[in-house]
Amino acid sequence: MNSYCNDKVVVVTGAGGTLCSAIAIDMAKKGAKVVLVGRTREKLEKVAEEIGRAACPHAAVRIESADVTDEAAIADIARRVEAEWGPCRFLVNGAGGNNVKAMPTRLRFCEKDLQSSLSTSDTNVAVASGSLGVSENIASVQNLQDSKTPNGESNLNHVNPVNPVKKELPADRGFFDIDMEAFKSVLEINTLGTVIPSRIFALQMAKAGGGAILNFASMNTYRPLTRVAPYAMSKAAIANWTMFFAQYMAPAKVRVNAVAPGFMVNERSRGYLMTPDGGLSPRGEQVMHHTPMGRFGEAEDLLGCVNWLLDDSVSSFVTGITVPVDGGFLSSAGV
Ligand SMILES: NC(=O)c1ccc[n+]([C@@H]2O[C@H](COP(=O)([O-])OP(=O)(O)OC[C@H]3O[C@@H](n4cnc5c(N)ncnc54)[C@H](OP(=O)(O)O)[C@@H]3O)[C@@H](O)[C@H]2O)c1
Repeated sequence: MNSYCNDKVVVVTGAGGTLCSAIAIDMAKKGAKVVLVGRTREKLEKVAEEIGRAACPHAAVRIESADVTDEAAIADIARRVEAEWGPCRFLVNGAGGNNVKAMPTRLRFCEKDLQSSLSTSDTNVAVASGSLGVSENIASVQNLQDSKTPNGESNLNHVNPVNPVKKELPADRGFFDIDMEAFKSVLEINTLGTVIPSRIFALQMAKAGGGAILNFASMNTYRPLTRVAPYAMSKAAIANWTMFFAQYMAPAKVRVNAVAPGFMVNERSRGYLMTPDGGLSPRGEQVMHHTPMGRFGEAEDLLGCVNWLLDDSVSSFVTGITVPVDGGFLSSAGV
């Protein structure tokens, strides 16, 4: 097959997810030997089945369930892949995510923040109050919607009055009462979860004479959205890391770039961008208002940019950049 990745090893982390499953399938169609990495084996098995069924029945696919922040586990995968298939030539660092325990329900500071347990001297209380038994999955956060005043403007300091936060979330939580352990875990998965596989697989690429790494930034890279501080911080860090590692690895002919997807509905974001009947949530409406192309993105919208950034024959002088694929979101002031 005549393609840039034919017979080459590509490692895709987060391969069980919405965006990177599409990338893995696309590269399998192009003849790559695809290593699917993620924590949940069943998700990866579904992608492998899809590759076998719809993409290319004879594709070389392997499933490796591991946490990308676990250096020993990723190094073990790298050793086995290299021994059996050869060196990794392409790495797609798609694993990432958020944690609802690290999210406030309020958007801005208000008097109630002064009553935060953090404002007392007993910091243990602060940790305990943040450690709510809430789901890790943002899909359960349908209720994290910006409430609106009757004139339709966001009522920034209040949760939706009909917000049935129920068991998943506290009815009202300010930034000073979020769980700092969850905050740290979001930073870790989105930053070290990219750095660790990059360090390990870049050495294989360097030994093999070159390769390309693709990282995942976000609209949060440029300006933080409300409520997702650690996610936004870590996605800003991805653009910075992409530049650092690009300049470091340039002599080894390893290019490092990133995509910054706009709003693409996935399992998690569906819950806060859309209503159960498929309409737009208030937050979804805000996003749409700021997206000149007037729609959410699809995983397939990324593929052209991803292939361009990975394919040496068309982007050999491109390294260290982050490319928005966002329907114009970044260009729109929304007014
Ligand atoms: N969708 C969007 O609108 C959007 C916008 C901007 C940026 N992004 C970024 O694009 C990337 C892919 O997003 P997506 O929409 O495809 O998300 P997704 O559907 O939630 O997929 C993310 C995948 O990452 C895996 N993962 C999470 N933590 C992991 C860990 N510690 N170790 C290994 N795997 C882990 C998850 O699987 P397991 O839980 O089974 O491990 C999941 O399958 C992410 O970095 C995301 O932040 C997405």
